[in-house]
Amino acid sequence: MDSQKAEEQLKAQVHLYNHIFKYMNSMSLKCAVELNIADTIHNHGKPINLPQLASSLQIHPTKINSLYRLMRILVFSGFFSTVKIPNNQEQDQDQDQEQEQEAYVLTTSSKLLVTENPNCLTPFVNSLLKLDFVSPGHMLGDWFVGEEVTVFEKAHGMAFWEYNERNPEFNELFNGAMACDSKMMNLVIRDCKPIFKGVNSMVDVGGGNGSLARIISESFPSMKCTVLELPQVISNLQGTKNLEFLGGDMFQHIPSADCVLLKLIMHGWSDEECVKILKKCKEAIGKGGKVIVIDLVINEKKDTHESTETKLLFDMLMMFVATGKERSVKEWENLFLKAGFSHYKFNPLLGLRSLIEVYP
Ligand SMILES: C[S@@+](CC[C@H](N)C(=O)[O-])C[C@H]1O[C@@H](n2cnc3c(N)ncnc32)[C@H](O)[C@@H]1O
Repeated sequence: MDSQKAEEQLKAQVHLYNHIFKYMNSMSLKCAVELNIADTIHNHGKPINLPQLASSLQIHPTKINSLYRLMRILVFSGFFSTVKIPNNQEQDQDQDQEQEQEAYVLTTSSKLLVTENPNCLTPFVNSLLKLDFVSPGHMLGDWFVGEEVTVFEKAHGMAFWEYNERNPEFNELFNGAMACDSKMMNLVIRDCKPIFKGVNSMVDVGGGNGSLARIISESFPSMKCTVLELPQVISNLQGTKNLEFLGGDMFQHIPSADCVLLKLIMHGWSDEECVKILKKCKEAIGKGGKVIVIDLVINEKKDTHESTETKLLFDMLMMFVATGKERSVKEWENLFLKAGFSHYKFNPLLGLRSLIEVYP
């Protein structure tokens, strides 16, 4: 019995230590992006061994073994993998005993960090792991007993959107992160075609720099698309034949359209604020239109453990930076009904998001 108890406690110690040090995973990933490891392996065109990688990355000669250790944890976390390649004895004198050597290749996850990939998510890493985003984490405990509305405000003395307005570089990085997240919609937009059928005009509310609206306007050339955004986000953006950018505030006015799209908007706002936004959407679409919400839906019974973890991490992110939260099906339904909508349909998309059609 005693040895069982000891085993349980030692297992618990592993669990605890893994959580204490999980930030090393994030920091190793950030470092891989800073050093450009995925692009370097990609550009090499074939598996790359450690000396070749170190030389391409211009690693200081004293840190080659540290690069090996960084790669080891990134391989362990699934960002890279290793294959055996024949040993080139002319190049690698000190390995001439071995017939084969290890070399690194990309995995599906690190292919998402290759600049050439249209679905490259490097801007998401660069923005979301910036110190400005990460440092409020140290204040979470203090925030719970203080009066600030968000943890971000506790750390930076102002709300997230105000911080963006005052820090153009941070704002640009964040808009870039949102844009690449939206570009991933390319992977599923074909399946969504029936949802946009018959929609002649659409307003993408809080549509960032228009990356999703561009995909939709190109897929549906006869649809008139408008991105309604805060002026600082769209000030330098050019529209196209069927896409325009409009500076404004979704709490004040949303222009009329057959359809209003809200992607990753509602999870950033409290229930009261969401009901206000939804009521403005309802005015914009009149009786015959619809609202399309693309957002996270917490559904622990149906989701895998891994995607529930991602959704709960996003929920904490919302607690850090905004007044919002990630919602269950029931919580979404309550919002729609409170805002005066009569019916809705949940369509799980591939990946983390759901698409919810909401009707007056
Ligand atoms: C989480 S981002 C989502 C961006 C985009 N929909 C996407 O999924 O890539 C939220 C967006 O809402 C915009 N936003 C914040 N407050 C707003 C307001 N009052 N009116 C219009 N847009 C606003 C922000 O500028 C930001 O681009």
